[in-house]
Amino acid sequence: MKLFDVYPLFDITPVKARGSYVWDAEGKKYLDMYGGHAVISIGHCHEHYVSMISEQLKKIGFYSNSVQNPLQHELAEKLGKLSDYADYQLFLCNSGAEANENAIKLASFITGRKKFISYKKAFHGRTSAAVALTDNPKIIAPVNATDNAIILPFNDLQATADELRKGEVAAVIIEGIQGIGGINIPEVHFLEELKNLTRVNGSLLILDEIQSGYGRTGRFFAHQYSSVKPDIITMAKGMGNGFPMGGVLIQPGIQPWPGMLGTTFGGNHLACAAGIAVLDVIEREKLVANAELIGNYLMKEISNMSHDIQVRGKGLMIGIECQFPISDLRKELLYKHHIFTGVSGQQVIRLLPALSMKKEEADLFLSLFAQSFHEVSASLKKNK
Ligand SMILES: Cc1ncc(COP(=O)(O)O)c(C=O)c1O
Repeated sequence: MKLFDVYPLFDITPVKARGSYVWDAEGKKYLDMYGGHAVISIGHCHEHYVSMISEQLKKIGFYSNSVQNPLQHELAEKLGKLSDYADYQLFLCNSGAEANENAIKLASFITGRKKFISYKKAFHGRTSAAVALTDNPKIIAPVNATDNAIILPFNDLQATADELRKGEVAAVIIEGIQGIGGINIPEVHFLEELKNLTRVNGSLLILDEIQSGYGRTGRFFAHQYSSVKPDIITMAKGMGNGFPMGGVLIQPGIQPWPGMLGTTFGGNHLACAAGIAVLDVIEREKLVANAELIGNYLMKEISNMSHDIQVRGKGLMIGIECQFPISDLRKELLYKHHIFTGVSGQQVIRLLPALSMKKEEADLFLSLFAQSFHEVSASLKKNK
């Protein structure tokens, strides 16, 4: 049987990983500045994580959501404490898109409304309601297209206020920091006004922290650089350090009813063991502070490399915008220097490494990046 061929692949086969490094089948070692798409939070194959999942598997790996599962309560307790949202409620699911799908459904149930506001260049996942609010017509199938999606310019308060005032919007959904869109940060004032405007107009505010959450930006959630407390927060990626899991945090005033949301696999025993291990390590190793420290260092050093580079981001969610298409630079980094990076569009390199990244790993990246950047930009200027 052939695989359904939807992914453009690098010809590299990782077989082993530890911390910020990955090895391929030939034994070549790669520095992982991409974290498997922002998923690796505590570092690859962390000892505590491997041990928690392995031990859990020996006891019980799965039972459905029809029985008591104390691990879910333990996870919720730890998450509430670390995120500073102890009074919120947690719904567990399996992926980012599923978290947003449930957040959207919940907002619609609660408000009785159908319309949603999202922003240009946003990405909220590929399931039906989430993809309709994602600003990329290429991934919206005819069945997903809907008049209920209102996609507005990013940081445009006036346009948002005008739509909200019509009284038909169930919720506004916005990323803590736009990831796939190119590391675009919502203004603090914009977020704070969004919260006021949604409240006044009977709408809810959903913060999509699927990529920007779980400590990545130097706060547990990126929106915590502001004073905003959203009604609903969605998360996934770093939550399981590679174990597929997602979650929805729901403010205390929203009441559940039996059957309102549901999932077969969400919150299973193995996922909870993975999620608890991740939170243990984030807390013990102070990874949120580390993300801020190493991220600030990386951003400062990269900005100083050239006037032709614009750096955006917070903590270890970093966009490096170049004045030329970055595909050659990425290839040079990967095939010559063995460094994985991510991308946003044609000109932005995205760095999303493990939150446990050490200073010497950052320094290794900085020296090899500077070398590749100067080589590639010089050769592009010569060939102009
Ligand atoms: C901000 C954001 N929301 C939602 C998603 C969808 O998550 P998943 O791929 O786990 O469905 C992503 C994935 O990249 C994302 O970055």
